[in-house]
Amino acid sequence: MTRAEFTRPHSPAGDPDAQRRLCQGMPPAWVGRLYPHLEARTRFFDDQVLAAVARGIAQVVILGAGYDDRALRFRTPGVRYFELDHPGTQADKRLRLEAIPGGLVGVTLAPIDFRTDDVGLVLAGCGHDPERPSLCICEGVLVYLDQPTSVRLLGGARSRAAGGSTLAATLAVHAAGMDSAQVVAAANARRRASSAEPWQTILPAAAQIDLLDRAGWVIDEAIDDATMGTGATPEHSLSITARPGPAARGV
Ligand SMILES: C[S@@+](CC[C@H](N)C(=O)[O-])C[C@H]1O[C@@H](n2cnc3c(N)ncnc32)[C@H](O)[C@@H]1O
Repeated sequence: MTRAEFTRPHSPAGDPDAQRRLCQGMPPAWVGRLYPHLEARTRFFDDQVLAAVARGIAQVVILGAGYDDRALRFRTPGVRYFELDHPGTQADKRLRLEAIPGGLVGVTLAPIDFRTDDVGLVLAGCGHDPERPSLCICEGVLVYLDQPTSVRLLGGARSRAAGGSTLAATLAVHAAGMDSAQVVAAANARRRASSAEPWQTILPAAAQIDLLDRAGWVIDEAIDDATMGTGATPEHSLSITARPGPAARGV
């Protein structure tokens, strides 16, 4: 709902009104202090999808897709979007996509629970081709997962990533020297949704980068959202890109 307020690009065949259509009838969202972060990271991931499509990437994997509208906004002939999320979210999204003419063209919805299911197997089962490069998006998701789950999730995505693939992800960070458990507790105390969907992982940047390394990804770029000009707070979130490195070392 909040994203529908932003001015955003779209592909020639894409729907500039996709986010509003997808969220039709939802109650207004209140994102408070996260608004400038959401704006920054929306711009970052939109740019990642546009750049990937421009360089011929034909598979976009969206981990924890939620109500991400990019499969519609950046629809491009020959490009397939694989969206992974909880079964309940996927069922509702399917109904919403069915209500939009052509809403499911080029989109595969795959239900999964990252805590228990293997993302590599799920992707294999829904037609993803590991021989062709993918853009893999993980936006606003890892903060909800514990560290072993994050490493398994990203490691599973790594197992499907051909050379030339890119991972784009957001990492919740805090300044070095603070106690991560206390940072998480304080952040959850400020959130309305913390009992239903607690944040679990906020770490210093170096520890987040180590987590990606264990999952088999090598960071190419790490951008503090605060530098994107939307007013985001420094040292709270990074938007990163990474390429496949040596196979995952594991949890
Ligand atoms: C804050 S939303 C972000 C959605 C989307 N990436 C975006 O930026 O709009 C987090 C998403 O992660 C999904 N998610 C969280 N934990 C999950 C899990 N264990 N298995 C599957 N999906 C999960 C939620 O259902 C939700 O759609």
